[in-house]
Amino acid sequence: MLSSKIEETSKEFSKDILSVKNAEELEKLRIKYLSRNGILPALFDEFKSVPKEEKPAAGKALNLLRNEITQKYNELKDKLSAESKRSSSKVDLTLPGKKYPVGSKHILTQTLDEIKSIFKGMGFSVFEGPELESDYYNFEALNFPPDHPARDMQDTYFVSDDFLLRTHTSPVQIRIMEKMKPPVRAIMPGRVYRNEAISARSYCMFHQVEGLYVDTDVTFAELKGTLVSFAHQFYGKELKYRFRPSFFPFTEPSAEMDITCFICEGKGCKICKDSGWLEILGCGMVDPNVFDSVNYDSEKFTGYAFGMGIERIAMLKYGITDIRIFFDNDFRFLKQF
Ligand code: DAH
Repeated sequence: MLSSKIEETSKEFSKDILSVKNAEELEKLRIKYLSRNGILPALFDEFKSVPKEEKPAAGKALNLLRNEITQKYNELKDKLSAESKRSSSKVDLTLPGKKYPVGSKHILTQTLDEIKSIFKGMGFSVFEGPELESDYYNFEALNFPPDHPARDMQDTYFVSDDFLLRTHTSPVQIRIMEKMKPPVRAIMPGRVYRNEAISARSYCMFHQVEGLYVDTDVTFAELKGTLVSFAHQFYGKELKYRFRPSFFPFTEPSAEMDITCFICEGKGCKICKDSGWLEILGCGMVDPNVFDSVNYDSEKFTGYAFGMGIERIAMLKYGITDIRIFFDNDFRFLKQF
């Protein structure tokens, strides 16, 4: 009887499909039930010889069986193919993650941070001033005579007759003395600009740190003590140094501080021009004319000032011989620090 065969086939199929674990077994299932020589077409063949009055019921049962088999077959096929896709693109969670390069502070920032922390340790505060300055702050208030060569168009980037890109950080001295009464003890870092030919030794923009201490009875000995202490903390205790007389319009007396050449250790070489010494900063006692321009009583107060180039300080510490390399942003250079 066809109806009992249909029932048996349904049961058998339900059992068979449970054991299908992969595509190969699924294909065997398809061949067994759905292929041209499979069970289902054979049942449809048999249906042809079913007596007429039984046809509606048998046809219905047969269609239900076909629908059930094809539906379950298709569902299982989809499930197995999704599984195989998932396993072929398996994520290995034990693999190490991607590493992205971590940035670091530029060596000039690191150098400035170190300079700041040394001077903060000696009681200095930190102030900043504008890079676009007036002729008054950059020159006049600092006792530069009107015909001083530093005002020459060759050195200074003038923006207009009265405004310029500051050529040094010394104008910030004037700005803070205008605002504060003594005692003043501050360092003033920042960018400065010079209209010079670019070479291994000079660049059109660089950084300076200015220092200023004004109070009653400030002496040259204190200036020396502070700078020597800075140099020892920054370059190490073995460092040898010397002070040479010099000239700056805004200090009197003025000096420059040298340290022993880091390349030849004092014997004389190309870098130190055979002198064995390298200049690291300019300094001196604040000129009374500067005090006059900020209305400080020069009979009552004395003070010292100093200024150093941050690039130069870093070049001497790390043995860098070309200033341009600071601004190239070459990774091979930057990542060494
Ligand atoms: N402003 C000077 C320069 O750019 C450096 C300097 C020298 C600053 C002596 C000072 C100082 O405060 O006392 O060359």
